[in-house]
Amino acid sequence: MCAVTAKPLFLLMNKKLGDYQLLDVLGSSRISKVYSAIDGDGNHIALKLMRETPFLDKSHIIRVLENTKSISGVLHHTHIVDILDVGKIDDYYYVAMELITGPGTLEDALATGPLALDAALKIGSDLADALTHAHACNIVHGDLKPSNMLVNDHDDVLLTDFGVVSMNYSRAPGQGQVMAGTPRYMSPQQARGCFVSTLSDVYSYGVVLYEMVTGRLPYLAPTPIANLQHMIRTITSAPVVPPVDLIPTLPAALNRMLLKLIEKDEVQRYQTMKDVQSDLIDLSTQAESHDEPAPIGLWTRVRRMFSGM
Ligand SMILES: Nc1ncnc2c1ncn2[C@@H]1O[C@H](COP(=O)(O)OP(=O)(O)O)[C@@H](O)[C@H]1O
Ligand SMILES: [Mg+2]
Repeated sequence: MCAVTAKPLFLLMNKKLGDYQLLDVLGSSRISKVYSAIDGDGNHIALKLMRETPFLDKSHIIRVLENTKSISGVLHHTHIVDILDVGKIDDYYYVAMELITGPGTLEDALATGPLALDAALKIGSDLADALTHAHACNIVHGDLKPSNMLVNDHDDVLLTDFGVVSMNYSRAPGQGQVMAGTPRYMSPQQARGCFVSTLSDVYSYGVVLYEMVTGRLPYLAPTPIANLQHMIRTITSAPVVPPVDLIPTLPAALNRMLLKLIEKDEVQRYQTMKDVQSDLIDLSTQAESHDEPAPIGLWTRVRRMFSGM
C-alpha cells in the first residue's frame, strides 16, 4: 500500500491524487469530503472523496458511483451541478464535479433565518425547473436538502448529489442497514422506507421552500431532533404548522401551495414539479397585482393568546 492510501480523507489537503492536485477542503459529511482541486487539464474543479469504512461498505459506494455516472450522461441543466468524472484512485472513490464558487450552500444562507420572499420564490422557481428537467429524464433526486443546494457568485442556486439516494443508508458495526443522518426533509413514504419516487422529491422540495419562506421546518418538533424514531413519527403523523401562522403577511396562494407540497397523503400532494412551476409563475403574477394576505391561522391566534398580544 503506498503512503497516500493510508491517509484519512481529511489529510489529503495539497496532496496529489492521480492526475488531480487537491487544494482546500470545501466541506464534508459523515461519509465524504469535498476538495477544491485542479484536474489534469488545469481546470479548477470540486472533487468529492469517499473511502470504505466500517460504516460505509464498498458495495454502497460503487452503487452511488454507478448511479452518478449514468445520471451524468443525461442530466445537464443551468441549475444542476455538472458531473465531470467518477472513478477510483488508490483507496479513494471520487466524483469530479463543476466547482461552484459563491457564498456557500442554501443551508448556510438559512442559518441566519428565512430568506426575503422574492429571493425564496426565485430560488424555488429555479429548483422547480431543475427538478422538472430531472423528472422528465426519469431521474429522482431522493436527497433534497439545503446542503445539496449550492449558491454561486451570482446568487443562482445549483442542485447537487443526484444519485446518492442509496447513500442514505449505511452500516453500523454488527447491525444491518440503518438510516444515516437526520431525515428532516424526507417524505413520510421515504421515511417509512418505501420506494423513492418523484412524489418524494415534490415533498422534500416543499419542506425546503417552507424553510426558505418561514426559516423553520413545518413540524412542532424539538430541535435538534435527537431521536431518529421520533423524527420518523413526526414526519409521518405530526400535523404541519400552516406557514401563514408563522408569517401572517404570507400571500394566501403561497400558503396553499406550501401545504399542498407537504401533504402527507401522496394523492393530495402536487403530482408533478411542472404543476408546481406553473403555480409559482401564477403566484409571481398575482404578487405583482397585490395578492390578499391569507387569514391569520389558529397557531398564530394561540401564540398571541399565550404571549398576551
Ligand atoms: N461542486 C461543489 N462546489 C463547491 N462546493 C461543494 C461542491 N459540492 C459540495 N460542496 C461543499 O461540500 C460540502 C459537503 O458536501 P457533501 O459531502 O455532499 O455533504 P452534504 O451534502 O451532507 O453537505 C457541501 O455542503 C458544500 O459546502
Ligand atoms: Mg451533498
